Amino acid sequence: MKNREQFSGNLTIIMAMAGSAIGLGNIWRFPYIVGEYGGAAFIIIYFLACLIIALPIFFAESVIGRRGGMDTFGSMKKLAPGSKWYKVGMLTIISPIIILSYYSVVGGWSIHYLLESFGGALGQETGHFGEFISSVEAPILAHTVFIALVAAIVLAGVKKGIEKFSKYTMPVLFILILVTVIYSLTLPGAGRGVSYLVKPDFSKLTAQAFTAAVGQAFFSLSLGVGTVLTYASYMRKKDNMLLSGVGTASFDLIFALLAGFAVMPAVFAAGLSPASGPGVVFETLPYIFSKMGSGAAWITICVSGIFFLAVLMAALTSAISMLEVGVAYLVEEKHLKRSRAVLYLSLFAWSVGLLCSLSFGPLADVTILGNSIFDFLDKLCSNWLLPFGGLLFTIFVGWKMPSADVLEEFSNNGKKPLNVRLYPALRILMRYVAPIGIMIIFLNSILGDLS
Ligand code: PHE
Repeated sequence: MKNREQFSGNLTIIMAMAGSAIGLGNIWRFPYIVGEYGGAAFIIIYFLACLIIALPIFFAESVIGRRGGMDTFGSMKKLAPGSKWYKVGMLTIISPIIILSYYSVVGGWSIHYLLESFGGALGQETGHFGEFISSVEAPILAHTVFIALVAAIVLAGVKKGIEKFSKYTMPVLFILILVTVIYSLTLPGAGRGVSYLVKPDFSKLTAQAFTAAVGQAFFSLSLGVGTVLTYASYMRKKDNMLLSGVGTASFDLIFALLAGFAVMPAVFAAGLSPASGPGVVFETLPYIFSKMGSGAAWITICVSGIFFLAVLMAALTSAISMLEVGVAYLVEEKHLKRSRAVLYLSLFAWSVGLLCSLSFGPLADVTILGNSIFDFLDKLCSNWLLPFGGLLFTIFVGWKMPSADVLEEFSNNGKKPLNVRLYPALRILMRYVAPIGIMIIFLNSILGDLS
């Protein structure tokens, strides 16, 4: 296709892909899952899950995206003409838009908390969080502002919007989280939070821990929803896929660890349970910072503000990648103007998000299979849609595409010797290890949901 935009180079691709990967999954999900499943012991398993299951799927999506050079539908049609494989595209339109709808609600919370931090109103009392999310207007307004920001960035295009935003945001994000880590480590009792993250407790390594590790790797690396595929389709032929995959996964892991060190000391300083979910980030941190933090009031206000700015930036760079997948589809397959595609999809995500936001308040009694609307959509995506998409991608590349084509794409036609040398191992991972790993996750989820 002519006139298709491309990312400018290896580094910008990594920034955009890391931007998609690093998000709420790193800031609140990772720290408490680590603790639940054995601290440092879990981190080792998580690292292995990234290496042998997540990365192969990352490369599978990259191969399809760059070789196909289009959105999911277009790429699959091109690589497997006459087959039904292109229908996988449907999944990659639905999943990211559903994720965007509830992700945007939480993104909105971070805007609200950012403004409140700088207003100095935050952290004076507990209970504020529950009151806020169950109210009607304020969270909906914040959700609306968040979606509007996401839409504006995606509307600006791949280069001028996504690439530019990620390129400047990602380095700043690392600085912000580092400042929070340093401050958090000065809290009284911070040591317990640190040892919680670094002390391995192998007795907690159950079968569930393995499932949790793979699930976390999927969500955190934005796999199985066509994001990596779509971003890879904007990759130049001479860029190195191995580098972008390993680079993205490394930044994602480092950021998750930093977020752990920012959040856990505060949780322990307050004597709270590390598994309190989103409340930890939105309620505990500002409260602990203002009550127990050292330094003048304005310092604690600044650190809270810096932390929520980090949450917001991380959420934005992830959210734009969710919207871009569907936009690429509507523009390339349905020949819609970019502006219309952005408008329709963001309106749709906004409407579903409305229900998610209300599910903490007036719609709290509405349940789907025993979950609130918000929880249902979250579980549907993380436990089912993402792994299912990943499974199809890895089967497609491992079993349907000719091996020579995959190698040619992965190694830039043999020009990257390290990629050529690693390919036989990667092929085994894509054909056997990753699919079997995902099927085990499904079994575990089914058994878990039934029990
Ligand atoms: N990886 C993002 C996070 O950790 C979430 C995400 C999932 C983004 C799927 C895009 C697609 O928050």
